[in-house]
Amino acid sequence: MRIAVARETEANEPRVAASPETVKKFKALGAEVVVARGAGVASGFPDSEFEAAGATIADTIGGDADMILKVRRPSAAEITSYKKGAIVIAIMDPYGNDAALKAMADAGLTSFAMELMPRITRAQSMDVLSSQANLAGYRAVIDGAETYGRAMPMMMTAAGTVPAAKVFVMGVGVAGLQAIATARRLGAVVTATDVRPATKEQVESLGAKFLAVEDEEFKNAQTAGGYAKEMSKEYQAKQAALVADHIKKQDIVITTALIPGRPAPKLVSAEMVASMKPGSVIVDLAVERGGNVEGAVAGQVVQVGPAKIVGYLNVPGRLAASASALYAKNLLTFIDTMVDKKEKKLAINWDDELIKATMLTRDGAVVHPNFMPKTAA
Ligand code: NAI
Repeated sequence: MRIAVARETEANEPRVAASPETVKKFKALGAEVVVARGAGVASGFPDSEFEAAGATIADTIGGDADMILKVRRPSAAEITSYKKGAIVIAIMDPYGNDAALKAMADAGLTSFAMELMPRITRAQSMDVLSSQANLAGYRAVIDGAETYGRAMPMMMTAAGTVPAAKVFVMGVGVAGLQAIATARRLGAVVTATDVRPATKEQVESLGAKFLAVEDEEFKNAQTAGGYAKEMSKEYQAKQAALVADHIKKQDIVITTALIPGRPAPKLVSAEMVASMKPGSVIVDLAVERGGNVEGAVAGQVVQVGPAKIVGYLNVPGRLAASASALYAKNLLTFIDTMVDKKEKKLAINWDDELIKATMLTRDGAVVHPNFMPKTAA
């Protein structure tokens, strides 16, 4: 069993798919581990630490590897260097990327998309959406605080009182919950909104105030999988009116709202941005999926009227050392299920629900029901 850890090729991707700690564990599972030279440097893992953990460092990886670990889906060029039948595991971003999935199938790769991991108890430690979103939620508040020209906590000093910042979190999934907790720790007065009724109690348990139009539609706005549904135009209009009035009074707005497989819902309009106080800050964590905020620019901080809109890309990558350590652990626990501990070799149970839910391609074909070519599905 030969496991290779790639160096990410995309610009703006400092993370790496293994840590010295997970390399040690892979060795204990009986694997040989090769790490691409410099792969961990941007995450604070120098080659020497991987070597000390038992890995070999190589300039090129792939050729003879049975399994390649990546953060992002491999490029066309990378794919050509992998052997047929190799397993590739990454955050594959499969929606709308049919050609790239077909390329992996054509290359004979068995590929797994970590973000499709079912959100069941057994797979909690493999949940990359949670491990990365949690860090993104924390970082969004730090980035917001850095961009904001005032202090977050209330300070009563001899020279006068600094009021506590008012922070409004829109979208209370994993990222939003961590954003609320972080903003509270910094001393802000926090409010939050979401379309899933279950979030109300979570928001209140973190000491923040919940704000939403709580009608019949709201009461049924959660799918069986625990995700948000796309709301009706009528609901969106009611919610927008409520939010519009609230946003005017906020200092920092953090948006994290997503709907799986769909563009991010637009929650903050240009008029709402224009209504804010001078010096306000909006952090749009959904900017990579189209953005929650009108006027947000992917990869930039832009001044729009009174507010600065922060649209950093790859926010977990802004905490690369923490993000890589957790992502590496997510991969390790998933791969652990694929190994026969006695024989110390790969033994994938193709009927396992985790395998079935995450496998995109196998034996030359796209096999995931959500991404199969229309004629085959
Ligand atoms: P996500 O990243 O897909 O979306 C973020 C948030 O945006 C969600 O809370 C969603 O309800 C909200 N949203 C969508 N449209 C909105 C709108 N128009 N206005 C306001 N908010 C809107 O969600 P994430 O963070 O992946 O979590 C989804 C669910 O999965 C949550 O219930 C979470 O607690 C649950 N979960 C369960 C796990 C497990 O059981 N293993 C692990 C992680 C999360």
